[in-house]
Amino acid sequence: MAKAKAESGLPDPVVRWRELVDIVEDARQRYYVHDSATLSDVEYDAIFRELELLELAHPELVSADSPTQAVGGERSEMFEPVEHLQRLLSLDNAFSAEELAAWAGRLERELGSLPSLLCELKVDGLAVDIVYERGRLRSLATRGDGRVGEDVTYNVRFIPGIPRVLTPAPGHPVPDLVEVRGEVYFPVVDFDSLNAEMLELGLSPFANARNAGAGTLRQRVDRREQELAAARGRGAGERGAAAVARLQADLDRAVRRLARLQLVVHGVGIWQGHEPAAQSEAYVALRGWGLPTSDRIRIVERLDDVSEFIEFYGLHRHDVEHEIDGVVVKVDDLATQGRLGSTSRAPRWAIAYKYPPEVVRTRLLDIEVNVGRTGRVTPFAVMAPVKVAGSTVAMATLHNEQEVRRKGVLIGDLVFLRKAGDVIPEVLGPVVEERTGDERAFVMPTHCPSCGTMLAPSKEADVDIRCPNARSCSSQLRERVFHVASRAALDIEGLGFKAAVALLEEGVISDEGDVLLLGADDLRRSQFFTRDGGEGAERPLTANAEKLLVELEAAKARPLWRVLVALSIRHVGPTAAQALAREFGDLDVIAAASVDELSVVEGVGPIIAEAVLEWFGVDWHREVVDKWRRAGVRLTQEHVATGPRPLDGLTVVITGTVEGWSRDAATLAVQERGGKVSGSVSKKTDFVVVGENPGSKHEKAIALGRPVLDAAGFGVLLEQGPEAGREAALPPEE
Ligand code: IVH
Repeated sequence: MAKAKAESGLPDPVVRWRELVDIVEDARQRYYVHDSATLSDVEYDAIFRELELLELAHPELVSADSPTQAVGGERSEMFEPVEHLQRLLSLDNAFSAEELAAWAGRLERELGSLPSLLCELKVDGLAVDIVYERGRLRSLATRGDGRVGEDVTYNVRFIPGIPRVLTPAPGHPVPDLVEVRGEVYFPVVDFDSLNAEMLELGLSPFANARNAGAGTLRQRVDRREQELAAARGRGAGERGAAAVARLQADLDRAVRRLARLQLVVHGVGIWQGHEPAAQSEAYVALRGWGLPTSDRIRIVERLDDVSEFIEFYGLHRHDVEHEIDGVVVKVDDLATQGRLGSTSRAPRWAIAYKYPPEVVRTRLLDIEVNVGRTGRVTPFAVMAPVKVAGSTVAMATLHNEQEVRRKGVLIGDLVFLRKAGDVIPEVLGPVVEERTGDERAFVMPTHCPSCGTMLAPSKEADVDIRCPNARSCSSQLRERVFHVASRAALDIEGLGFKAAVALLEEGVISDEGDVLLLGADDLRRSQFFTRDGGEGAERPLTANAEKLLVELEAAKARPLWRVLVALSIRHVGPTAAQALAREFGDLDVIAAASVDELSVVEGVGPIIAEAVLEWFGVDWHREVVDKWRRAGVRLTQEHVATGPRPLDGLTVVITGTVEGWSRDAATLAVQERGGKVSGSVSKKTDFVVVGENPGSKHEKAIALGRPVLDAAGFGVLLEQGPEAGREAALPPEE
């Protein structure tokens, strides 16, 4: 964005003001009228803030039509206008603890002391105004420009989450006329499936849940019904029938989507009748009448407690069923609210603390491809580094060529990037309006960028392509060596990605087979593992190298299933490997087994069986195994299950450090008894064994009501079986 310069060389405030106003107005128009966003929330906030500061420095610029004086929001012509009984205001924002403290300081000065404050979530939804007359719904309108909104009342009949009649509550009669404010939102859990549906229909997906909510609520269902009735009336014929079917499907879809909308109320406009004394009391009444209020509300007396609330939901942002973009802090007492009053834009008695954004915009500089462990070629986005949800992101996977097309991104595009919590970064799509024409489409390479081999389609998944040069493609080699050492495989500390690359590049190892053969003399040949001083056998090893040597010895004694995982056999992850190890107990027996013998094993099946057979059919794969054998890697499992199998068909999750058990030993103990050990808790999990520091799996187990066992309970399960195990489960509150 070029800054306007006056002749002095400084930005001319008048020109800059105009520029900022234009940007804000354009962004608002798109946001409110078209349910799409051209600026990310942070960018919008930054520009709005610049405008406010500019007006502060140049009060002569402020005019009645400046966006700083207006509530924000526009109306489209698509719906009938509804005038709100009382104007809907906006909220002032705080972006830091200091700004929040400054607001609280103003309250204290004005009132003499800090009043009781009500903290609640800032729902990133679509603001609505609902009027109930004598307890019956009169209108539901979008916020619009704050004075006049759009009439979407017709759609309420399809939204079970919005009551059409209010029921009187003890102590809280329903007023003759009441205007309720809140946010309509599209639940986060349904958002991905909605977007998948949009794409299937050839429509652009929604950039965020807010747009999804707005797009859903602002559907002209009444028109669709009329069109359908008219098409029906026009009668038969093949084309007529097709039109009716299409319109019917369209209507059904619209209604289905409306049914998913939810409401949360957070305020009241006009209230004719006995008025409450506090915001929190109003919520009690609203809830009593059947309106959905939030459970996540706290009344506090100190600013520290506000900060705690903010911090808590900053960490649990994604445990909420709707998107949140901050916390709203309100003076609880309504008389005090009245005393503090409002500016033309926002009340002085409330403030919105905004969280750092989770969707940002950045430039897609290039799309490169990565060649994985099994040769799969995956495009990924290279972006201008950008901070999102607390960390800096510069890369994101794009999965495959189809996905690049589906997202519609071009190299050079400005793109929306999302990172939700600790979830991996994801490119959402392009900001089409910002295209200059210089963007170019991604072309999948025909040859491997690492080794130059011609790429070939994958046998299994038609969306994937692979580099067939499995043995010596440097990318695949690197990934396989790194995988051998990974936590899921032989778990060798001290052999990270950089070390793997160094050992291969320096020629110390030539493949994954050599990893387990590494000795002190080999490591001495590596720059990566040695320090300066001395040559040849004298050259000192780094502490990391010493550690690696110890780790390698330990790795040779790991259970058989880990060895199987480390071999990088396609589709053989921990579950299949555990099943194979348990059943056959010996790598040579597995190598000699037929597809039939392999696929009867529970948890194995024909695809994995084929992959195993194919893998052992390759000469150099057997050489890898031979090298490991020579290195002394244990290729058998000592405890093959022979006894009874009391845990047959049961799935156990083990989390945290269970006293008296190593993770591998606990896993083996379950497997020997016929049970399966899984890494994630679901409704199908039969037992969750928790040790010290169990983390989120424990919480999930409680949430899903799965039996939770401590070390003692685990012993009972192993010795006495599932029934006794269930009795030994910890009570839910522990
Ligand atoms: S109170 C006069 N509480 O945020 C104060 N607003 O950025 C009116 N919003 O227009 C708003 N969650 O649509 C309030 N818990 C909450 C909210 C909330 C979301 C929206 C509201 C408002 C916008 C201002």
